[in-house]
Amino acid sequence: MTDKWTPLTWRNKKAKHIPNYEDKSELEAVVDELKCYPPLVFAEEARTLKEKLGEVANGQAFLLQGGDCAESFAEFNAGNIRNTFRVLLQMAVVLTFGGNRPVVKVARMAGQFAKPRSEDTEEKNGLRLPSYRGDCINGMCFTPEDRRFDPTRMIKSYNQSSSTLNLLRAFAQGGYADLQKVARWNLDFVKDSEQAKKYNQFADRITEALNFMKACGLTSDKIPQMKQTDFFTSHEALLLPYEESMTRIDSISGDWYCCSAHMLWIGERTRNPDEAHVEFLRGVENPLGIKVGPNASTDDIIRLCDTLNPQNEAGRITLITRMGADNVDKYLPSIVRAIKNEGRSVVWSCDPMHGNTMKASTGYKTRRFEAILKEVESFFAVHKAEGTYAGGVHFEMTGQDVTECIGGAQKIDESNLGDRYHTHCDPRLNASQALELAFLIAERLKKGSSL
Ligand code: PEP
Ligand code: CO
Repeated sequence: MTDKWTPLTWRNKKAKHIPNYEDKSELEAVVDELKCYPPLVFAEEARTLKEKLGEVANGQAFLLQGGDCAESFAEFNAGNIRNTFRVLLQMAVVLTFGGNRPVVKVARMAGQFAKPRSEDTEEKNGLRLPSYRGDCINGMCFTPEDRRFDPTRMIKSYNQSSSTLNLLRAFAQGGYADLQKVARWNLDFVKDSEQAKKYNQFADRITEALNFMKACGLTSDKIPQMKQTDFFTSHEALLLPYEESMTRIDSISGDWYCCSAHMLWIGERTRNPDEAHVEFLRGVENPLGIKVGPNASTDDIIRLCDTLNPQNEAGRITLITRMGADNVDKYLPSIVRAIKNEGRSVVWSCDPMHGNTMKASTGYKTRRFEAILKEVESFFAVHKAEGTYAGGVHFEMTGQDVTECIGGAQKIDESNLGDRYHTHCDPRLNASQALELAFLIAERLKKGSSL
């Protein structure tokens, strides 16, 4: 792994979950075009995020990462972007206030388009077609035209990511996130819920604290942190031709950065250190996530840390564990112990979604709120027992009022799933369920049980 790296060296390795495009010249033409496009993020921003994640690794901050399982061209509009941004910020406010520590906000947005699939093909009524792999690769409709791997979709994804990022930056920096307006961040459909009541109580206490500060002469005009917020983007670095095209040398540091997002992660299915995805990511300086499922061995994870973070830099690696609610006690402690004993600096984050997917009797892919909560609870308990810091959470969620996960205060059950089931891939928490989880985690943080 000490071989010379370039943005192209991944091409010499085995690459899983990347489509085999029929027309290679069409693919190369798209990659060449994208190489000329402006980067979506600036290297300095990725360095800032790495620093902030270093604070999480050291137990001084908390990471909140969340957004769609898969963004789609069909669901692209300002309302959806705003609603997800708003729920993430509401969750962050709850976690900051409850946990008394800064919250690093990282969205699964503005680039989360490519999906690994367990089956390469799908069959319906005797017709076999390639599986849907995310809107940047092919379409969802079960027709040969839509399911064709189409490289030009990468350009559409780039443009959608660019517009999404533009709006997120405007919301984060332009006054929408002003703490003074915190009480106005309401989502209509959670207005009368238990969450809304609790949120309003929080908001009232924050307003009280702000009024006190105002009386002391401290207002958002004088303190920019009160008016603006840092908001970062992330996605799974799965479609390597696209990621390669977005990789540039930073003129300030002379280092390579993948400028499609601030943070990139490697999925559970593509984290083999001898294969293409790890090869690609070892050469870029962005902060990286690694998904860690129940079949990961301690050696696998140590080897990944050696390859991806040879200098043991704080903030470079976030281990996103996704064991399944009933597996956490069995598999997490040995990994946590090995990393601790080897003195590796990592952020420990919990993805309670991907180990808890199930099929409802009605056929919908869903997740139970209780299982999600149980995985988070077990994650905190293991870190407490091991003396390590439970540093963050990673959710699939949306600001829309969807009915994709079962349970929570709204008591969505199997029979309601069909009401508003819109996801292009995995089932997401809706705004009410996401806020509910944030309150429960904030209580946990308040008890100081994470360190
Ligand atoms: C995902 O985060 O959408 C995903 C596919 O996760 P994992 O790699 O953990 O299965
Ligand atoms: Co998913």
